[in-house]
Amino acid sequence: MATEATNNAEETAAQAQTGPAAVSEARAEVQKNSRRIPVARRRLELLFDSGTMEEIGAEVLHQCHDFGLEKKRAPGDGVITACGLVDGRPVYAFAQDKTVLGGSLGEAHAMKIARLQDLALKTGSPMVAINDSGGARIQEGVQSLAGYGEIFRRNVKSSGVIPQISLIAGPCAGGAVYSPALTDFVAMVDGTSYMFLTGPKVIKTVTFEDITVEELGGGRTHAAGTGVANLLFESDREAISQIRRLLSYLPSNNKEMPPVVDCDDSLQRMDTDFHGIVPADPRKPYDVRDMVNLLVDGDSFFEVHSNWAQNVVVGFARMGGHSVGLVANQPLHLAGVLDIDASRKAARFIRTCNAFNVPIVSLVDVPGFLPGKAQEHGGVIDHGAKLLWAYCEATVPKLSVILRKAYGGAYIVMSSKHVGGDINLAWPSAEIAVMGAAGAVEVLNRREIAAAEDADAKKEELKDAYETKFLNPDLAASRGYLDAVIEPHETRRKLVRFLELLRNKDEQLPEKRNGNMPT
Ligand code: HXC
Repeated sequence: MATEATNNAEETAAQAQTGPAAVSEARAEVQKNSRRIPVARRRLELLFDSGTMEEIGAEVLHQCHDFGLEKKRAPGDGVITACGLVDGRPVYAFAQDKTVLGGSLGEAHAMKIARLQDLALKTGSPMVAINDSGGARIQEGVQSLAGYGEIFRRNVKSSGVIPQISLIAGPCAGGAVYSPALTDFVAMVDGTSYMFLTGPKVIKTVTFEDITVEELGGGRTHAAGTGVANLLFESDREAISQIRRLLSYLPSNNKEMPPVVDCDDSLQRMDTDFHGIVPADPRKPYDVRDMVNLLVDGDSFFEVHSNWAQNVVVGFARMGGHSVGLVANQPLHLAGVLDIDASRKAARFIRTCNAFNVPIVSLVDVPGFLPGKAQEHGGVIDHGAKLLWAYCEATVPKLSVILRKAYGGAYIVMSSKHVGGDINLAWPSAEIAVMGAAGAVEVLNRREIAAAEDADAKKEELKDAYETKFLNPDLAASRGYLDAVIEPHETRRKLVRFLELLRNKDEQLPEKRNGNMPT
């Protein structure tokens, strides 16, 4: 893959400069230091295809003469702005240099980034931001704040037009985390990158609270706890290589389709392993990622947000060489129930796919929304509605397969025909109902059960009757809410076929300033 080739550029460069004898020594040094943070320029060189990087504004200097800053001027003012190719396509990127005034952002530094954002937008090219900065440069006062404002505005203007990806490559504060929050993806590096609005030193002076950078805003905190980071990697090198991979699933802009790659995985493949993965008993857990991996081309699945809200799995993959976005309930965690975080995670991913012309394939096995005070008081009404919103709003092809359970509101939300699903498939094992049998007879038949001679036997009888009526796909299929009930081994073939048939889908929503999405 081109990515690996470029990421080996350091070794290749060593070979070119010093000859074969020095290569193993250079390689050993590279491996030994694989976690060492490369400097800003090195990070950009790793991002771009070898030899394609062109720097812009290398000679820019700040004009500040306060607090002795006139003696601290470095060409480029602490940020390298550049364009180059990634897998042959133009990409704009900047990398902040922590060794220059802590990578802090003053007027000149901001102007360079804003100019790059303008170029990326005008040329319809992705923007990659490598952040390593203490935020607004304190010595430049309002000029720093103004600079961030200019950047934020361009982040929002570009949103949904060009892919924007942020790498947090060191301790980042203030605007250096707010700008990433406005982009499509935030990647962090475990153990070396941190995100917070205000760092531990400032927190200590304001609230007297003692907290480490790791606890406050480390990679695990944001990848697993807050969900602010979509991606967490072991090293800068891995992060940059995976950002290259992420870009390969996305078009350069919203007017284009994602790149298509040659597919050497059979489109007619009819695997029979599905039953081994999905237990017939709907209460038994399984890892839906095994299903995803069986359905998509080869090893094309690229999971996003894998550490957060694990009761839903989202990520990009390819089917028949074309990009798709997978949204799958995960029975391995909390039985795959939808809750606040899962709704936010899936909604965000669906909106990203929709913005960039990536069809959405949903694998449904969901017992409903998680009940309880914590969820209700945490705002599950609004957060759950975000997922509903995202599916209703998405105009890319939407396909779904109900594998087992699809209960209650979660049935409606998860790409059902009623929220605009284009193709809705189900396995014969699908159960579609307002709720499970036990809950239903409790609500409907309480008096009848209490009056029965043998209450337990009556309950079982009523449950059986309910299950026969509802816990199958028949009613939904007969009403046209399902387009087909398919055998599990046909799933890949059917999805690939329907994706092909839906490729020219063109659905327009009414013109409006903006909808009013729940917050
Ligand atoms: C000017 C800064 C700076 C800043 C760091 N430096 N942040 N200079 N403006 N914002 C300088 C330091 O003085 C130091 O210079 C060098 O960079 C390295 O900083 P250290 O503190 O030694 O590094 P480290 O221990 O790694 O800590 C990194 C840090 C910390 C956690 C980011 O520097 C920090 O808390 N900085 C302040 C963060 C902050 O509150 N920024 C303003 C946010 S407001 P020397 O010369 O000693 O090497 C903002 C506005 C937009 O960004 C907000 C929008 C919502």
